[in-house]
Amino acid sequence: MYNLNAMLTLRKVKVVKGQLRVPSDKSISHRAIILSALAQGRSVIRNWLISDDTMATLHAFAQIGTQIERRGDEITVSGRNYNFSEPYNVLDARNSGTTARLLLGVLATQEFFSVVTGDESLRSRPMLRVVEPLRQMGASIDGRERGNKLPIGVRGGKLKGISFFNKKASAQVKSSLLLAGLRADGITEITEPYLSRDHTERMLRLFGAEITQMETKEGHIIKLKGEQKLYGCEVSCPADPSSAAFFTALAVLTKSSHLVLKEVLVNPTRDGFFRKLRQMGARIEYTNLREISGEPVADIVIEGIEKLKGTNIGKEDIPSLIDELPLLALVMSLAEGTSTVKGAEELRVKESDRIRATVENLKNMGANIEEYEDGFYIEGVERLRGSLIRTFGDHRIAMTFSVAGLVAEGETTIDNPECVSVSYPNFYEDLNKIIHRT
Ligand code: S3P
Repeated sequence: MYNLNAMLTLRKVKVVKGQLRVPSDKSISHRAIILSALAQGRSVIRNWLISDDTMATLHAFAQIGTQIERRGDEITVSGRNYNFSEPYNVLDARNSGTTARLLLGVLATQEFFSVVTGDESLRSRPMLRVVEPLRQMGASIDGRERGNKLPIGVRGGKLKGISFFNKKASAQVKSSLLLAGLRADGITEITEPYLSRDHTERMLRLFGAEITQMETKEGHIIKLKGEQKLYGCEVSCPADPSSAAFFTALAVLTKSSHLVLKEVLVNPTRDGFFRKLRQMGARIEYTNLREISGEPVADIVIEGIEKLKGTNIGKEDIPSLIDELPLLALVMSLAEGTSTVKGAEELRVKESDRIRATVENLKNMGANIEEYEDGFYIEGVERLRGSLIRTFGDHRIAMTFSVAGLVAEGETTIDNPECVSVSYPNFYEDLNKIIHRT
């Protein structure tokens, strides 16, 4: 079904020019609220992302007794030192997997009873990946489908550290267990086959926690001693590379373009999209490299070019570009030769089934794309044609196909453009600042 209530129509642009500071990183903005709430003392968060997802985290922590003041994008949090209060009502993570899974890790350390729910999309997403290890740590948790689906009820308490193999290399799972492990007895040890985004580890250090990391032949190991305290501090959130990616793709696909994206997070666990594009022949440069609150940041300069080359993506590449895969499939559709993506089955359980959503919409635009259970096979075409796009209410699908509409021939209509508010409420306003039609 298409949601035709508030459709948006897009046409091809000629060049992309200018400079933008895209909104702040969603993953870091969630964690800044959460760690500030867990800490002792006051924290100040600057350049916080205001979006539906991050507001869900803010409200949930307010509902368990955290005093949070927001003045625009500056947030002041009075930390509760892990002593939260029983909520009067259900905690609603809305569309946000990060809110639900990280919150479950925190609630597992609390003796009171709480229930977490979410919107229709989130209620269909798997939660056993965090529920099972949190149960092993000692929390009492149940929910629909034996605890796999929201709503989920938690009665937590004193936990014990565990050793856990994070097979899916999910940063949400790792982070949930680290937040629980911080208050557990003993050591929490997490091994990942490939390092997933490490913002929780970096920010835990900023808040004074001790955490060790090492590379072994089994994978990447993270160790955290329990009973550690966090201390309130100042955090600044850099621009989100997953949001910057949409403008990067648009500039790369529009020849004669020149675009500068300011203060973008370039953490190697997140910048796989930019690295892959460079391998495909794109002109993308990191300038003014620096650090903000323990995270590497750069101004990214992008030039449009004539044609990219196809490429292959395997399991080890996936964590650093997981959220950019629909957009990468679009870029691959217009590259020379064939491209493949394998090992990306996690895309099926994101805000929508992103393999299906990407293949269906790209096919409708004339791309030569086939679906694998865990990815795509793509043969590049010369051009795409405008089409009616079904977003499935998924912000990243809406933004990917808005970019597609701006490079395709003819007219593209997006069925539910307002779903971009999950991560990027002003996406269309920002697009208008850099596109030129003549
Ligand atoms: C996120 C981790 C990733 C990512 C999501 C945000 C995070 O999910 O897709 O958008 O903030 O930790 P998984 O942990 O499920 O891989």
